[in-house]
Amino acid sequence: CGIVGVTGNDSAVSILLNGLQRLEYRGYDSAGIYVNDQNGEDYLVKEKGRIDDLRKEVSATANVHGTTGIGHTRWATHGEPSVANAHPQVSADGRFYLVHNGVIENFQDLKNDYLSDVEFTSQTDTEVIVQLVDRFVTKEGLDTLAAFRKTLSLLGHSSYGFLLMDKEDPDTLYVAKNKSPLLIGVGDGFNVVCSDSLAMLDQTKDFLELHDGEIVVVKPDEIKITNQAGEAVQRDTFHVDIDAAQADKGTYPFYMLKEIDEQPNVMRKLSQVYLNDDGTPVINADLLDAIKSADRLYIVAAGTSYHAGLVGAKLFESLAGVPTEVHVSSEFAYNQPLLSKKPFFIFLTQSGETADSREVLLNVNEQKFPSLTITNVPNSTLSREATYTLLLHAGPEIAVASTKAYTAQIALQAILAKALGEADDQAAAKDFDVKQQLALVANGMQALVDEKATFDKLAKSALLHTPNAFYIGRGLDYAVSLETALKLKEISYVQAEGFASGELKHGTIALIEKDTPVIGIITQQKTAGLTRSNLQEVAARGAKTITIVTDALAKPDDTIVLPTVDERMTALLSVVPGQLLAYYTSLNKGLDVDKPRNLAKSVTVE
Ligand code: G6P
Repeated sequence: CGIVGVTGNDSAVSILLNGLQRLEYRGYDSAGIYVNDQNGEDYLVKEKGRIDDLRKEVSATANVHGTTGIGHTRWATHGEPSVANAHPQVSADGRFYLVHNGVIENFQDLKNDYLSDVEFTSQTDTEVIVQLVDRFVTKEGLDTLAAFRKTLSLLGHSSYGFLLMDKEDPDTLYVAKNKSPLLIGVGDGFNVVCSDSLAMLDQTKDFLELHDGEIVVVKPDEIKITNQAGEAVQRDTFHVDIDAAQADKGTYPFYMLKEIDEQPNVMRKLSQVYLNDDGTPVINADLLDAIKSADRLYIVAAGTSYHAGLVGAKLFESLAGVPTEVHVSSEFAYNQPLLSKKPFFIFLTQSGETADSREVLLNVNEQKFPSLTITNVPNSTLSREATYTLLLHAGPEIAVASTKAYTAQIALQAILAKALGEADDQAAAKDFDVKQQLALVANGMQALVDEKATFDKLAKSALLHTPNAFYIGRGLDYAVSLETALKLKEISYVQAEGFASGELKHGTIALIEKDTPVIGIITQQKTAGLTRSNLQEVAARGAKTITIVTDALAKPDDTIVLPTVDERMTALLSVVPGQLLAYYTSLNKGLDVDKPRNLAKSVTVE
């Protein structure tokens, strides 16, 4: 979900709506705003669907205006998408308004214990909170801040980012967070609140981070942070160096296509930031020492980042000789495997906010193990809380389906693996010219993205009308199969699976029917022949086979030929056809490529 708030600005309505529009990729099943003009007039407008639908509803409602307000775009957790379940949620007497990111784990208990006499109008956990605040104010005589504080003390381990307004004190925003991101933006004579700085970059570039458990009272000319014990906290602002225009899609129909096209430049940028002219890596020496003294790396990530970790592990093992395990965050968090004696943790996360990954980092910090977050978002939660951070420098990634962050994560892991191996005098790393490879990769990516018409045509002929599809490969090609299958699933709703090509025959081959698309990725010499045999096996059972093959291993009938790069770097190229095939399948189906159903860009609940 996305949260925005503003106090002390006559353009509150448009600031909130524009902010929500920029956060829409975090959730888009319903949205709403509450604004107050300080002269007794206020407006609550909510709508099911997208921010555009909310805008229409705001225009259709007479005279919506105000100086202070809150807004929300929702990714449903409790309760279906509907106007009643959209935020802001309101207390029964219409005095308190609340927007919320996260999940209140004990909301049913709170409802039973304190609010059995209240008639609820939504199925959300959030309504319980706003009714509780109201209860503590009206029945127990607490002031709003004390009631808010008392409510927060009852929430256990729940996750939340809250923005609360009290109609009787209408220029004040009450803000609190636990496990869910929230920032305060400092404006000139006004202040804003948002769950992601992107939402407010056209209003300010100066932000204050909030820590879990803190409560903040924000007025037009004042920001008061207090900790759980109620003591005042002083904090400096940080400057966000992103231009709001970088987050525009320009002439592209969808962000995803823009982001796919940006990949060659992201490769060049990483090379420029992390490699000297002579190709030696520029990586913080403390970080290298910390990793060098570890006996095993644990890469922890979710979704596409997890897939980038699968590739990264092979790079750390082959270039630096460090044993590396890759884990899905949500599994690792509650089923921690037996660890080595000196583990080092690497968190891969585009957003730096994924709750599943953060839960692991909290455990890791408790156990006092060193960690590195590799993320695209400076000052994000996982970046602040890990021992070290490396930034992806990929520019804002807005499309829900991740593309350039995936390739950036792989490229940066290659650089880090090279740095580690070299620091350890490993021949494999010394002989590996990562700078030259990234230059080749950038050119290769460019050649692929220049062939859009080919992928459009192939998507139409092979994937548009199929209910299912398979990507297969071995080793690194298997890792990429998982990612390319995920891309297709996410945005085109084709039931797709990535499979180790040798494993298909042990069960899943039963699903192959006439014309089932099976896409083989072949970039590794030692397994090329085997994957080709596996493709023959499915072709013999009627499958429509497609091959994505590096030039060095290509045969005349291959479908897509990739420029040749070092075999350890092929994932950076073989994924691009998969990204483009998914894009064109979704586009040709007439779907919303950037905002697929049920998903959100950054999931801040477990
Ligand atoms: C969400 C997104 C995925 C993403 C995953 C991990 O589920 O829809 O595209 O890969 O989160 O996100 P992260 O920001 O941690 O890389």
